[in-house]
Amino acid sequence: MKKKPLLALGALLTLFSTSIYVTGCGGANGEQTSVSAAPAPSGISPQKFADGVHAVMMADRTVYAKQVVTRLKSQKASVKPSEYWEDEAHTIPLPAQMFRMGAELVSENAKAGFSYGLKSKWPLNSQNKASTPVEIEGLDYVADHPGENFYGEEKINGKTFYTAIYADKAVAKACWECHNDHGNRGDDYPEFKQGDVMGGVVVRIPLD
Ligand code: HEC
Repeated sequence: MKKKPLLALGALLTLFSTSIYVTGCGGANGEQTSVSAAPAPSGISPQKFADGVHAVMMADRTVYAKQVVTRLKSQKASVKPSEYWEDEAHTIPLPAQMFRMGAELVSENAKAGFSYGLKSKWPLNSQNKASTPVEIEGLDYVADHPGENFYGEEKINGKTFYTAIYADKAVAKACWECHNDHGNRGDDYPEFKQGDVMGGVVVRIPLD
């Protein structure tokens, strides 16, 4: 009699651990593809998936900013972060550039099963402009509701997507100093200050 719940638990765990692959969001190797042939589990919810990948993105971004960029600065290293790292010697990309380059690689990967980006209504790089009504609505929502995320659905070119938006806030002086003084700022650019929502991370998952 005791065996049944254990079996059920085992099945549940298998379902949970394979579901990421089943939704097509795993990596690019063959092993994961074969896992995707597992019998029809319902998978984790799009919200759980979006929250999970967002946590990884933010962790990587924070580690790069703190342990690489800030560390180099504090050691007065001869290598420094620069927006123009491609043209300047002894420079490395800014955290936002690292983030965007990662997002571009994921969008080129057909097996990734989702896409993401760092967006704003006031972008320094026009590639980061909020581009759909749901992105604009979500960026407004996270600015007006501190501590909350935005979850919605939208149709793009006839396909339905689950779209999650997470606030990106001015947490350090460097954020608003660099952005407020930047040459690319448009006429309607805000004077960002501590705690302001400067933009948001958009995670988009196809539903059909
Ligand atoms: C040294 C300058 C600098 C600093 C410091 C900086 N940024 Fe940026 N940020 C940029 C540049 C340049 C871009 C455009 C990067 C690209 O090409 O995608 C950008 C992009 C962004 C974007 C995407 C929208 C846009 O403006 O293109 C957001 C949101 C953002 N930064 C927020 C922040 C936050 C929050 C911080 C602090 C944690 C921060 N930035 C620190 C220069 C900076």
